[in-house]
Amino acid sequence: MSETTNLNHSNALLEVRDLSISVEDAEILHHVDLDVDAGQCLVLMGPNGAGKTTLGHAIMGDAAYTVDGGTIDFDGEDLTDLSADKRALAGIFLSYQAPVEIPGVPLYSFLRTICQKRPELKMSARQFRQRVRELAAELDMDPGYLTRELNVGFSGGEKKKVEMLQLLLLQPKLAILDETDSGLDVDALAIVSKGIETYRRECKGALIIITHNTRILERVEVDRVAVMVDGRIVEHGGPSLIADIDERGFEAFEAREPKEA
Ligand SMILES: Nc1ncnc2c1ncn2[C@@H]1O[C@H](COP(=O)(O)OP(=O)(O)O)[C@@H](O)[C@H]1O
Ligand SMILES: [Mg+2]
Repeated sequence: MSETTNLNHSNALLEVRDLSISVEDAEILHHVDLDVDAGQCLVLMGPNGAGKTTLGHAIMGDAAYTVDGGTIDFDGEDLTDLSADKRALAGIFLSYQAPVEIPGVPLYSFLRTICQKRPELKMSARQFRQRVRELAAELDMDPGYLTRELNVGFSGGEKKKVEMLQLLLLQPKLAILDETDSGLDVDALAIVSKGIETYRRECKGALIIITHNTRILERVEVDRVAVMVDGRIVEHGGPSLIADIDERGFEAFEAREPKEA
């Protein structure tokens, strides 16, 4: 078996092939290939502006990102032309780098609404209340937050807890976590890594962790690493790549020719 890349095998959960994406007529991603297997944790790294967030949003089906070429297959289905809602139903979850605030909507109602959209998560009001309370306790979240307006006035750490709560409630097959470690103090970081661990253990879900620093990776078991520079994946590797990046920075990768797909 080849140990270099996992591309070109057909049983991946997520298969991104030759994907080019533009935003407002500027091409941001160029011919990206990426595979993630069921239950696998892939870390997507790269300097600011590399296109990591763009790739996450393109996989989720954010309409602001135009597909200029290529395909996104998920769980045996071609998602390339499906709406973000349909992709969420198929089992993809994206946590935003900057979580939205929704004044007037209490966190609890928000969570209830997103669960009700998912037939496989059917719960009675009572079961739902119990489950949310359990998860809030597990994430060390003050239950008082459940009745507050979604993310309004929440600290960075509290917003990330809300995301972990959504993740554990929804139990997606693939979670894309965009810069989940940014702006977190040590305690909040511990909660987030605990959320990630619980997700992997209980939901057996796959993960794409998008980050430009390696702090959170000390606490999460990583299977594969992809490095993105200037809208291209320039390197695929195992977890040892993280130490490599820590030591040499992204400049070492920037100097290389982009890898041919
Ligand atoms: N909505 C947008 N309009 C115009 N340019 C954008 C938009 N979103 C991203 N870009 C550009 O795309 C590039 C990649 O951005 P992004 O995906 O956010 O990178 P990263 O997450 O790796 O920091 C940047 O040059 C950024 O300026
Ligand atoms: Mg980003």
